[in-house]
Amino acid sequence: MLVCLGLIFMTQWMLLVAHMYDDWQCSNWEMSDSPIQNLMLNWWKTELSWISTMNFTKYNCSMTVDNNVLRIQGSNTNCIFRRNLAFPLHNGANFSVTAESTNSTCSITCKYIPQGINGSAIENFSCVIYDISLMNCTWQAGRNAPGGTQYFLYWQNSRDDDQTECELYTKDENDRNVGCKFQNVTIKGKTTYFLVNGSHKTFLIQFYDNYTKLYTIERLPPPLNVTANCTSNPGGCIITWQQPLLSHVENRNCFQYEIDIQNEVKTMYWFAFGTISSYMYLNNMQISILSLLTSI
Ligand SMILES: *[C@@H]1O[C@H](CO)[C@@H](O)[C@H](O)[C@H]1NC(C)=O
Ligand SMILES: *[C@@H]1O[C@H](CO)[C@@H](O)[C@H](O)[C@H]1NC(C)=O
Ligand SMILES: *[C@@H]1O[C@H](CO)[C@@H](O)[C@H](O)[C@H]1NC(C)=O
Ligand SMILES: *[C@@H]1O[C@H](CO)[C@@H](O)[C@H](O)[C@H]1NC(C)=O
Ligand SMILES: *[C@@H]1O[C@H](CO)[C@@H](O)[C@H](O)[C@H]1NC(C)=O
Ligand SMILES: *[C@@H]1O[C@H](CO)[C@@H](O)[C@H](O)[C@H]1NC(C)=O
Ligand SMILES: *[C@@H]1O[C@H](CO)[C@@H](O)[C@H](O)[C@H]1NC(C)=O
Ligand SMILES: *[C@@H]1O[C@H](CO)[C@@H](O)[C@H](O)[C@H]1NC(C)=O
Ligand SMILES: *[C@@H]1O[C@H](CO)[C@@H](O)[C@H](O)[C@H]1NC(C)=O
Ligand SMILES: *[C@@H]1O[C@H](CO)[C@@H](O)[C@H](O)[C@H]1NC(C)=O
Ligand SMILES: *[C@@H]1O[C@H](CO)[C@@H](O)[C@H](O)[C@H]1NC(C)=O
Ligand SMILES: *[C@@H]1O[C@H](CO)[C@@H](O)[C@H](O)[C@H]1NC(C)=O
Repeated sequence: MLVCLGLIFMTQWMLLVAHMYDDWQCSNWEMSDSPIQNLMLNWWKTELSWISTMNFTKYNCSMTVDNNVLRIQGSNTNCIFRRNLAFPLHNGANFSVTAESTNSTCSITCKYIPQGINGSAIENFSCVIYDISLMNCTWQAGRNAPGGTQYFLYWQNSRDDDQTECELYTKDENDRNVGCKFQNVTIKGKTTYFLVNGSHKTFLIQFYDNYTKLYTIERLPPPLNVTANCTSNPGGCIITWQQPLLSHVENRNCFQYEIDIQNEVKTMYWFAFGTISSYMYLNNMQISILSLLTSI
């Protein structure tokens, strides 16, 4: 414990090892006299926790991935990284805890190195939400994944939810899971965490993880009840439509509509914003094709 007294700044490197998947413990063989012990990472809770054998006044934590650093202040037993800021872990990360009191500072760093065959993690992960509450996720097997590798998707809609496994996998011809269909997804406006890990009877398979805000992946349906009422005297058309049904958007002003009007001579594009109205008056226009797109 003496190492930490008298403003000695120390850094020790430790390795996070996955004893259990949900809790990674930092292995700490060399420095068993460190005042910060039992560093653990629970990634579903984005929480770094430890036991302190000295009374420090302040604790800071950081997470570093490549050259991106996330620094937060902690309590005397843990730090919780906010999800919307946290980085995926599948490429590895460095975690550190710095403890400070009036006359000493202590710092320990823990390195998380993903285990498993390089290139065995899934690639090209992508999800889309459609028809209000349905979601499809797809991926491709890692290019170096050995034959017989199986993948599993786990997700946590928000930090307050439990993590659950995919209930309905889509499979390729070798019975390997390459996608997941979700039947009842609620968009909560928070950051959702996806993890796809893999198993093989002989080899360790790397995992892939991803933070996504679900509203950014919703496929917007077209506007409803589009009508065009054209009159010849005065010549013109009134086009009306209604906001499409979506799972989450309450604010009409967020909508932006695009009207594509094509007549025989030329193509014209009109942009109408939700803030303006949901109708348009077109002067002396002959309409042959009309389509409306929605975007947010
Ligand atoms: C930390 O301080 C509390 C009260 O302030 C005291 O009871 C406890 O023994 C101290 N712990 C250590 C490790 O010094
Ligand atoms: C902890 O973080 C605060 C604010 O981010 C910073 O002012 C302080 O210097 C940090 N302390 C240590 C010991 O890193
Ligand atoms: C962790 O720190 C080591 C040594 O400073 C560095 O080589 C490595 O790239 C870091 N890892 C990550 C994921 O940033
Ligand atoms: C550190 O400061 C505390 C009070 O601020 C004091 O009790 C303790 O003896 C000091 N330790 C050293 C090594 O100076
Ligand atoms: C996997 O890739 C990492 C980084 O590219 C490299 O440091 C490591 O040695 C590789 N491991 C194996 C078993 O090839
Ligand atoms: C992922 O997508 C890219 C671009 O479409 C493609 O080149 C690559 O082969 C895909 N990865 C796998 C493992 O299929
Ligand atoms: C994370 O998942 C989203 C959802 O489909 C996808 O659009 C994005 O490309 C993924 N990010 C990375 C880094 O793979
Ligand atoms: C979702 O998956 C189902 C079944 O694989 C497919 O029929 C449907 O077109 C997909 N929808 C989207 C929006 O990708
Ligand atoms: C869908 O999820 C919502 C909220 O989680 C729940 O209230 C509802 O009962 C679910 N509906 C079905 C058909 O499972
Ligand atoms: C994949 O991750 C889940 C959730 O953390 C865990 O329960 C499961 O055991 C893991 N599976 C494999 C094959 O690592
Ligand atoms: C669209 O128009 C039909 C017929 O006028 C009506 O029954 C329906 O409720 C309208 N849809 C919406 C979302 O208002
Ligand atoms: C079309 O517009 C004209 C003139 O504004 C109006 O008299 C008529 O009732 C409208 N027709 C429909 C079907 O809305």
